[in-house]
Amino acid sequence: MFKKIVLSSDHGGFNLKEKVKDFLIKQNFQVEDVGCNSLDAVDYPDYARILSDKLKNNKDTTGILFCGTGIGISMAANRFKHIRAALCTSVEMASKSRKHNDANVLALGGRILSEKIALEIVEEFLKTDFEAGRHSLRVNKI
Ligand code: RB5
Repeated sequence: MFKKIVLSSDHGGFNLKEKVKDFLIKQNFQVEDVGCNSLDAVDYPDYARILSDKLKNNKDTTGILFCGTGIGISMAANRFKHIRAALCTSVEMASKSRKHNDANVLALGGRILSEKIALEIVEEFLKTDFEAGRHSLRVNKI
């Protein structure tokens, strides 16, 4: 179970980040929002880096990244060795990303997902544990 959740987005993910933040705060999660803070255009790799730095040597912390599609910001985050960011568009993907891939970051597309589906994905990601076993060997090969 993750103790703390860091949120980071570019302008394409900003609106969804704000909705997910409200949801998590209402659920009493410890949340840190590292930006961006408006719809003004910014570069998603910068926000992937800020979040990735927060997770260094910090196994109790997870992150949620947002951009327009979730693609660019997850690509950028996955350049960092300690990050396994999963771009999810369904609850099933969120579940498997934790059980099989031990994803430590969830990536969402603010221009792709409805708020309802996004919140269901977030809930599933946060409540699901890594199954380890045979999956550990594979994750260690990444
Ligand atoms: C920004 O317009 C958009 O390209 C970005 O949010 C993201 O979708 C990139 O993958």
